[in-house]
Amino acid sequence: MSAASLPVDPNNLEALWMPFTANRQFKRKPRLLSRAEGMYYYTPDNRQVLDGTAGLWCVNAGHGRKSIVEAIQKQAATMDFAPGFQMGHPLSFEFAARLQAMLPGDLNQVFFTNSGSESVDTALKIALAYHRARGEAQRVRFIGRERGYHGVGFGGISVGGIAPNRKQFGLQLPYVDHLPHTHDPARNAYSKGQPEHGAELADRLESILALHDPSTVAAVIVEPVAGSTGVLIPPKGYLEKLRAICSKHGILLIFDEVITGFGRLGTAFAAERFAVMPDLMTVAKGITNAAVPMGAVFATKAIYDAFMNGPENTIEFFHGYTYSGHPLACAAGIATLDVYRDEGLFARAADLAPYWEATMHALKGTRHVVDIRNLGLVAGIELEPRAGAPGTRAYDVLVDCFEAGLLIRTTGDIVALSPPLIVQKPQIDQMAEMLSAALRRVA
Ligand SMILES: Cc1ncc(COP(=O)(O)O)c(C=O)c1O
Repeated sequence: MSAASLPVDPNNLEALWMPFTANRQFKRKPRLLSRAEGMYYYTPDNRQVLDGTAGLWCVNAGHGRKSIVEAIQKQAATMDFAPGFQMGHPLSFEFAARLQAMLPGDLNQVFFTNSGSESVDTALKIALAYHRARGEAQRVRFIGRERGYHGVGFGGISVGGIAPNRKQFGLQLPYVDHLPHTHDPARNAYSKGQPEHGAELADRLESILALHDPSTVAAVIVEPVAGSTGVLIPPKGYLEKLRAICSKHGILLIFDEVITGFGRLGTAFAAERFAVMPDLMTVAKGITNAAVPMGAVFATKAIYDAFMNGPENTIEFFHGYTYSGHPLACAAGIATLDVYRDEGLFARAADLAPYWEATMHALKGTRHVVDIRNLGLVAGIELEPRAGAPGTRAYDVLVDCFEAGLLIRTTGDIVALSPPLIVQKPQIDQMAEMLSAALRRVA
């Protein structure tokens, strides 16, 4: 019998090496999702699970949107793939123009990738090449931030501030330093929206720059709101200070908006929500409502123009992916922008934000809860860790919620909630009730 005709056991979970998952623990007691529609996932045995996390912070318009599905189907039947190097296809230009029309500040150019990680590494390379193009090749340093998550490429894990990346892989990019994170529960616990305290932490950038010599620094990269390490909202005035210090020293400011982009905070981008404009922005996730993988880097015209020099037959930016601007992703992306626009979903998120804030903060006093923070349609609910067993309590809460019919996300002992922007008020109530019940059940 050939390998291809061997019977496949659908219950055999062994072949797959799962990403960011405790494989052995998971495979002993799997949690499977096999269908999704609107605000809900369904398990293979047809149990409904309310999506409290928009998948992985990405299905902002809700699941199974018909117009997006149809756009992908139509494009797959029209042209499956076209090379993007020295060739083009109309949808990639159309989608870039649609994105350009919604970019804040001086952002003007669109470079397509396939994920947030690729967007981050692309942005770092643009920063290096930009400075070289301007005759400042000595600018090779990057400043990230503790508790920053910028995906899993070597650039991203280097500027990110997550200890397991150093423990497991050792090797990092050289010439990287980190700002302190802004999480300060002693002063800011239970802040609603932006915390009052901590703007002065941005001043640490000046001392890091003084140490390394600012003229050697290419870019500072931060998530405007740190998502994956536990919903850390920037203190009032903090991002403004970072912007001012970067401008003063000719350093590019990169906002990693892979989570905050496409409406999560009630505006298209966090840059608008905070009225602080970066020089480069990385996005992914909500750009296609996660229906086809895609990411992008947005750059100012000044950055783009710095590359557009030399003989016209030279490739100005020696970078790109086979699937940059993939036709199916562009079709999904254009249909996604239509849904966001036609349903006013970003404004909807802004309108719902006060209700979301009140409902989430009403969890104060629930067993195990030590802090609650929120902005737009994001909330972080921090739990007291079990003595000597960090992360296990939140994991048990995740399992309990899933069994009860709610999908949450956890990082360490922090529960993160970020529902699709189509969420209804009774569903927000339901999320809070289900989480509260789980917290009361879990030891
Ligand atoms: C801020 C940020 N940057 C980058 C990434 C990496 O994106 P991806 O998993 O698509 O590579 C993520 C993923 O959650 C993210 O939150």
